[in-house]
Amino acid sequence: MTQLLDPAPVAEPGYAFDNSSDHPIAQFACLAAAYDPFTIERLAATGVGEGWHCLEIGAGNGSVARWLADRVGPTGRVLATDVDIRRIPSYPAMTAERHDIVHDPLPAAGFDLIHARLVLQHLPQRRAVLDRLLAALRPGGWLQIDEFDVSYGPVLLAPDARSAELYERFLAAKARLFEAAGGRVVWGRECAAELREAGFTELDPQPKVALWQAGHPGLELLVSHLDGLRDRLLEQGLTAEQLDRVRVVMRHPQFQAVSPVVYSVHARRPR
Ligand SMILES: C[S@@+](CC[C@H](N)C(=O)[O-])C[C@H]1O[C@@H](n2cnc3c(N)ncnc32)[C@H](O)[C@@H]1O
Repeated sequence: MTQLLDPAPVAEPGYAFDNSSDHPIAQFACLAAAYDPFTIERLAATGVGEGWHCLEIGAGNGSVARWLADRVGPTGRVLATDVDIRRIPSYPAMTAERHDIVHDPLPAAGFDLIHARLVLQHLPQRRAVLDRLLAALRPGGWLQIDEFDVSYGPVLLAPDARSAELYERFLAAKARLFEAAGGRVVWGRECAAELREAGFTELDPQPKVALWQAGHPGLELLVSHLDGLRDRLLEQGLTAEQLDRVRVVMRHPQFQAVSPVVYSVHARRPR
């Protein structure tokens, strides 16, 4: 008998990736490998521990939510939400719930900690979402937002000048298509100021970059974007040959680049 899958949930306008394809499997694996260490180091610095109630927004494959669930133990609780929860596995102390952070209700003052990584910068309504997150935290509760600023990310070494230029054109085309959908590709650097404007206190933005060489999961994330965004990259003026070539460049042993800046921003609801 053919097993019918649920239809793919429709993401908000602004979210450029197609959850109905297999692309998110590789995308989320690369995100976890490249960015979980920094995200987790920062979450640990909030003091999250036994008994905390946490919300993970746009949880992807749930790698961060699972770390939180281990941390809060059986007396705590982690709610892992996403518009598409098919890739979040079952896990003790963790509940996965289909939830759209733009429209669906959140409990008032319900959480000790809320975390979101690479979600809000996609959403045109990100500023209004911050108001909702403030209300959903208990007084003194923590928010951690991890987001990119892709305006920085130079090539350091490439097999030749043409390859370096092609990589830069690919990044520029990707940035254009995100912004055309209502995303904000430099939101990482703006996030702390917007959080302060929304009423959060104790702002602590921490930037991080990495050196990328062939095989780095951050670069492999870009390779996965080549497939996931192929049609839209073609619409942005890149040719099929150029997309194939940039894949080879990113996996070339002589290629080295700096990652975009990822900002991990801590903020608290006033006590
Ligand atoms: C770039 S992925 C990041 C996944 C995960 N946070 C990570 O860093 O590994 C963005 C995630 O946000 C989800 N998403 C998009 N729009 C959303 C919305 N309006 N509400 C909740 N989640 C959303 C997507 O389905 C996707 O899982």
